[in-house]
Amino acid sequence: MFKLWLKFQIFLAVGSVLADPCTISIPTDLPDPQPVFVTQQGLFRPINQVTEVQEGEELTLHCAGKGNVVVPLKQQTVTLVCRGGDFYNTETDEQQTLKDLKCTRIPTSELQVTETTCADGAGVFYEVGFLVNDNFHSVFTICYDSANEHTIYSRSLVNGAAQSFKINDSTRRAFKADGLRFSTTATNNFYVNKNQKSRFASYFGAKQAFVNRTSFLARGHMAPDADFVFSYEQLATYYYANCAPEWQVVNAGNWLRVENAVRKLASQLGSDVLTYTSTLGVLELTNPTDNKETQIYLDKTELIPAPEWYYKIVMHPSLAADVVFITRNNPFEDVGKEVEFCTNVCDKYDLDLSYYEDSRHGYTFCCELNDFWVAAMNTDSPNFDLPDGWSYKN
Ligand SMILES: *[C@@H]1O[C@H](CO)[C@@H](O)[C@H](O)[C@H]1NC(C)=O
Ligand SMILES: *[C@@H]1O[C@H](CO)[C@@H](O)[C@H](O)[C@H]1NC(C)=O
Repeated sequence: MFKLWLKFQIFLAVGSVLADPCTISIPTDLPDPQPVFVTQQGLFRPINQVTEVQEGEELTLHCAGKGNVVVPLKQQTVTLVCRGGDFYNTETDEQQTLKDLKCTRIPTSELQVTETTCADGAGVFYEVGFLVNDNFHSVFTICYDSANEHTIYSRSLVNGAAQSFKINDSTRRAFKADGLRFSTTATNNFYVNKNQKSRFASYFGAKQAFVNRTSFLARGHMAPDADFVFSYEQLATYYYANCAPEWQVVNAGNWLRVENAVRKLASQLGSDVLTYTSTLGVLELTNPTDNKETQIYLDKTELIPAPEWYYKIVMHPSLAADVVFITRNNPFEDVGKEVEFCTNVCDKYDLDLSYYEDSRHGYTFCCELNDFWVAAMNTDSPNFDLPDGWSYKN
């Protein structure tokens, strides 16, 4: 009996030495550029500055994209296993330091058009993510209505626990038109300044003053680049299906402030915040010469409207309500409270900024989701598809 007990204790002692977890500290342990990290649970989502990988668990590194490889190993994918606190290459058994395992360039995401319907059949899911060893790992989800070439929403989780430790990457990437009927080249062309000028000249005459070098419709992100932790996730947001025309002064003005507010909120809450970003309506601009209202589209076929509003739904279990930020995409008209179509609760939830009333940078207000929904959608309750484990409040 005694002997058995002793053996058991020795086993425990040895076991605890062996069971040293591996740790990944962000951003210090990360190579630049990072490969896509996949753990046995899926896409790696850090839970703090330091995240553990347990003894015996695998971590797969993948440099997605043509000709993209883990530089020192010259292979696209490598799997490591955690043993006694260190990572070992499962093929060569060599110990590896994460920091050394950079990719040739930032991994390239893909957009998968699925056949799964969303928003009660109004659209289908587009998943943006990475294919690693035949498994697709989604970074964020778009619900897209192809018939109307309209993004019903971009849904993503803002990782509040890792917000303060994320990669601050200023790299941009060209937008791709995957999932749209227009080609990337055609869509790029809609946004070219010269073409916006001629579009606006056709609406308002050659002397139109809406579009010039500094005033133009920008590619407004729905799920924003800067919400994400890794460079490869940030650059996965560059799809036209995740964007809509937004006046640059609004994009870099109050809409950026809304995005910053959501990241700050996520950071304060310290865990995932669920967001849905979308647009409402078609922007109408008043012709100064005859006071007539004209609806604004980027393309002649009138499939890509400049929206009247941008909005972002923000959800978290500890918030008393699901909240929506709403920003007006019309910097030309001086407006105030009269444009608010649901009860402004920015103040109530401590989300108010004095800047929000500045129409020149996009008049902004906040509402509780249920109130917003009834006013904007004319139906009783939100029908945006929730990820597992989430629910609407009230
Ligand atoms: C990224 O920027 C944020 C905010 O400016 C800062 O707190 C953080 O330390 C920066 N992270 C890195 C890795 O530089
Ligand atoms: C560009 O247009 C904006 C909006 O009408 C106007 O405020 C700005 O002064 C114009 N800039 C130039 C250089 O004309």
